[in-house]
Amino acid sequence: MERRRVGILGATGMVGQRFIQLLNNHPWFEITWLAASDRSAGKTYGEACKWKLDTPLPKKIAEMKVQPNVPELCEGELPRIIFAALDADIARELEPKFAAAGCAVISNSSAFRMVEDVPLVIPEVNADHLQMIETQAWRRESGGYIVTNPNCSAIGLVLALKPLEERFGIESLFVSTMQAVSGAGYPGVPSLDILGNVVPFIKNEEEKMQEEVGKLLGRLRGSSVAMLDAKVSAHCNRVAVEDGHTECVSIKLRKKATREEILAAWSEFAPLRGEGLPTAPEAPVEFDEAVDRPQPRLDRMRGQGMAATVGRLRECALLDWKFVVLSHNTIRGAAGAALLNAEVLARMGKLDKLGIPQGQAVLA
Ligand SMILES: NC(=O)c1ccc[n+]([C@@H]2O[C@H](COP(=O)([O-])OP(=O)(O)OC[C@H]3O[C@@H](n4cnc5c(N)ncnc54)[C@H](OP(=O)(O)O)[C@@H]3O)[C@@H](O)[C@H]2O)c1
Repeated sequence: MERRRVGILGATGMVGQRFIQLLNNHPWFEITWLAASDRSAGKTYGEACKWKLDTPLPKKIAEMKVQPNVPELCEGELPRIIFAALDADIARELEPKFAAAGCAVISNSSAFRMVEDVPLVIPEVNADHLQMIETQAWRRESGGYIVTNPNCSAIGLVLALKPLEERFGIESLFVSTMQAVSGAGYPGVPSLDILGNVVPFIKNEEEKMQEEVGKLLGRLRGSSVAMLDAKVSAHCNRVAVEDGHTECVSIKLRKKATREEILAAWSEFAPLRGEGLPTAPEAPVEFDEAVDRPQPRLDRMRGQGMAATVGRLRECALLDWKFVVLSHNTIRGAAGAALLNAEVLARMGKLDKLGIPQGQAVLA
């Protein structure tokens, strides 16, 4: 099968580098275009990027030229599939330009996550929300659109919550995070602020977690999402861990559930199994019986970095149950999440007619 050409916007950052690592030898996609800021444009990727991952930078990518971040200035043909890893302020300005140029923009940033006609998607949780792209103005005018994946701490949490919401309903939950430094990008948090320390503040993070849980677990009604009716309270902390966000969760369910029923809900949760999507983990939620797991160094690479690991399920004196969930923030929480969204879009035929106005589509 001929691979589809893809580009990466924000290719030199922490998430951009994960895209390059995960797309290297991907069976469906091939990187043909890279862009970052004006500081990087015109250099080779090897010159522009401080490569921070533990696999070698592919030679072919190192030699590629970083292009201007403007669709019209693309040397050669602009790929119609753009993975975007930009800070929100820059994304707000640049992503619409690529969608208007007929591209499927598959974004990591928070800029458009809560916009009414923009899908915020974890494929195992709410792939049906992807239909919302058909109501976007860019789709009608150029065939392009924007799809987003959630904040890196919301993803692991919601993977653990979805099977519980399906079977028992969620009334309220309390979550306290311990988030890795790579979540702040590169160079990120200064070493003197984080070594031997915990920083109990990550700008806008608690608000993002609270609102994104509601949209992700909400129901698609026509062309918008009816938010989940549950109270969510988040505390977000930065800790001296390289990769992997750990979260302590207490939850009140609408229907009483036993420990065995909760474990069954998690272990039987496999909505994408058998779909043949290259990035989908066999088990999106893995339970570990050990009393001292999950731990970031030991568990973040489960399911090739795409599984959320849960553990320490026990009764909660305040709400019903409490547990710990861990996921890899730049794989499951960012680049891997976007890649899985793209694979689902490919399966739905939504990567086929890019660059062609779609007219007024009607949602079922
Ligand atoms: N890190 C995570 O765990 C994580 C998880 C989920 C979501 N996210 C989100 O993903 C996005 C990227 O995060 P990151 O951690 O990769 O950040 P980062 O390491 O700071 O990288 C930022 C990237 O944006 C590029 N950039 C800066 N200004 C630009 C401009 N004016 N035009 C085009 N490109 C520009 C940078 O290019 P230069 O090298 O040229 O400056 C770099 O490639 C953010 O929205 C973040 O919130 C991150």
